[in-house]
Amino acid sequence: MSDFPFADRLSTLPPYLFAAIDKAKAAVKARGVDIISLGIGDPDLPTPDFIIEALHEAAKKPVNHQYPSYIGMLEFRQAVADWYKERFTVGLDPESEIVTLIGSKEGIAHFPLAFINPGDMALVCTPNYPVYNVATNFAGGEVEYVPLVDGNDFLPDLDAISEESWKRAKMIFINYPNNPTAATAGPEFYAKLIAKARESDTIVLHDAAYTEIYYDAADKPASILEFEGGKDVAIEFHSLSKTYNMTGWRIGMAVGNPSLVKGLGKIKENCDSGAFQAVQEAGVAALKKGEPFAEQFRAIYKDRRDTVIAALQKIGIECRVPKASFYIWAKVPHGFSSTDFCTNVLEKTGVVITPGNGFGKPGEGYFRISLTVPSDRLEEAVSRISKL
Ligand code: MLT
Repeated sequence: MSDFPFADRLSTLPPYLFAAIDKAKAAVKARGVDIISLGIGDPDLPTPDFIIEALHEAAKKPVNHQYPSYIGMLEFRQAVADWYKERFTVGLDPESEIVTLIGSKEGIAHFPLAFINPGDMALVCTPNYPVYNVATNFAGGEVEYVPLVDGNDFLPDLDAISEESWKRAKMIFINYPNNPTAATAGPEFYAKLIAKARESDTIVLHDAAYTEIYYDAADKPASILEFEGGKDVAIEFHSLSKTYNMTGWRIGMAVGNPSLVKGLGKIKENCDSGAFQAVQEAGVAALKKGEPFAEQFRAIYKDRRDTVIAALQKIGIECRVPKASFYIWAKVPHGFSSTDFCTNVLEKTGVVITPGNGFGKPGEGYFRISLTVPSDRLEEAVSRISKL
C-alpha cells in the first residue's frame, strides 16, 4: 500500500487539541480507570424534547430529503433574524446578512478562504480556539498573535497592536464570552475595536458561540452588532450547539456585514451543499421556543460553577469566578507546567482537563475545566485532584 505524503499545510499542523486529548483519555480508559471528562466543551444535558420532535416531523417530509439551499432555508434565516432582534435588538436582513452553517466551526474554518490571500495577515487573540489560526494558515495567511492576559482581563490590548500591524491585518479574530479564559467583553471594548477596525479596514470575526451561557442577567453578553458601526466591519458566528445542547446536530449561523456574509456563502457553495433542512426546521423551533430551556441550563451551570469554584478554592487552586461560558480557567499549581499537570491528573486520577498551552503560548500556566458533567462528578473530580 502506498503511503502518500500529506500536503505541507497538514504536515506542519500540530495534532488537533481535542483529538489528542481523546487519544490520551482512551489509553487511560483502556486500563479500566473511571474517567471524568472535563475536557471538551460538549454539554452532557440532552437536547430539549420539543426540538427532537420538530426534527422528527421535519425528517418525514420528502422535500427535506433533497439538497438544501446553499445559504440556508429562508425560514431558518428569518428565525435567526427574529432571535437577534429579540435578544440583541439587532436588525438583520435574512436575505443578505445571514447564512446558515453546518455548525459555527465549519463557517469559521471556511471564512478566511473568502478574504485571506496568500501572505495576508490575520490577528488572532490567544489563547484561542485552535480553528482561528489553522483556518488562516489553510488560506495561505500568516498569523500575528495578540496575547490575552490576566492583567488586561483577558481582553486584547488594542493599543499595543502596532499601527503597521493594524494596517496589514486583513482580519482580527475575537471571541467573547471567551473560550478558554471565560472572560467577557463590555461596550467600551467593542466601541474601541470597531473604531480601530474601521480606521484600518480590518474585518472583525467575532465568535459568539457562548453568549447564552451567563450567570447573572446583569452580565448578559453582547453581540458586536449592537454597537455603532459594528455591521460596517464585523461578521459574527453563532451556534445552537452550546445554547440548546445541540453539538451533535451541526447547526449554526454567520450574521453581519453583507459583503462578508456573501463571501462566506460563495466558499460554502463550492465546499458543501448546506445543512440538512430537517435540522434547520428543528433549529427554527429551538430559536423560537428555546429560551425557557436555556434559562434552566444556565441555572444548572451556575450550580456547577459554584461547586467547582468552592472546591478549587478549598485546595488552593487560583481562578477567577466566570461571569459567562461553561469554562473555568485556573492556574496550575506551582512547580508544574500546564502539560505536566494535566497529564499527571489524567494518569493518576482519570480526570480529563485541558492544558492551557494547548490554546496557545499565553495559556501556559493554566488549565481549563469544562462544566459539562453533573455537580457530584465535578466534586469527585476536584476531590481526586486534591489527593494528588
Ligand atoms: C472546546 O471545548 O473548546 C469546544 O467545545 C470545541 C468546539 O466547540 O468545537
